[in-house]
Amino acid sequence: MRIVILGSGRGSNAKAILQAQREGRLGRGEVVHVFADKPDAGILLLGAEFGVPAAYLDPAPFKTKLEGEGEARYIKAIQDCAPDVVVLAGFMRVIKPGFLDAFAGKIINLHPSLLPSFPGLDGIGQAWRRGVKITGCTVHYVTAEVDGGPIIDQTAVRIEAGDTLETLTEKVHAAEHALLPAVLARLSEATV
Ligand code: GAR
Repeated sequence: MRIVILGSGRGSNAKAILQAQREGRLGRGEVVHVFADKPDAGILLLGAEFGVPAAYLDPAPFKTKLEGEGEARYIKAIQDCAPDVVVLAGFMRVIKPGFLDAFAGKIINLHPSLLPSFPGLDGIGQAWRRGVKITGCTVHYVTAEVDGGPIIDQTAVRIEAGDTLETLTEKVHAAEHALLPAVLARLSEATV
């Protein structure tokens, strides 16, 4: 199962996937390329660390969505990788129908809340400020509805009395780092 990872930030979830692959915990999954929409994104450093191609891909002309020329560049580059799965691991752009159609049914996203609660930006902060006692993370298929596609799996994280936004953030990230590689391993064995 050929995996392409898209990200915008530090890439801790991409690293968790690559680490799982290195340790034989990714089933038949194989990361074939990492792309970032920011030239200085930490996720790009994983290329050298794990021996996987990693590149910045210009998303212009838009700032918060992937459409127009940028979308066409992403579609072409990713099609060249012949992926079975495209993983959005902290890719902070709204995906539009052109990209969705090009990789129909193959795009999965990681979100730091128990969807359908707290979609959009800052899922952890939203849950913290709302004062819920259980939040978590979600892996789901991407559709035109932002954070609204079919849910593949979730992990719950309890907010304890002593937690702060910082400790909650750490707990949700730890849950993500376990969930996303496990889902990919199961997808690769077609057991999801
Ligand atoms: C993750 O917490 C992921 O759930 C979130 O961005 C972070 C990326 O971290 N994604 C979203 O909020 C998407 N709406 P990473 O770069 O360290 O993997």
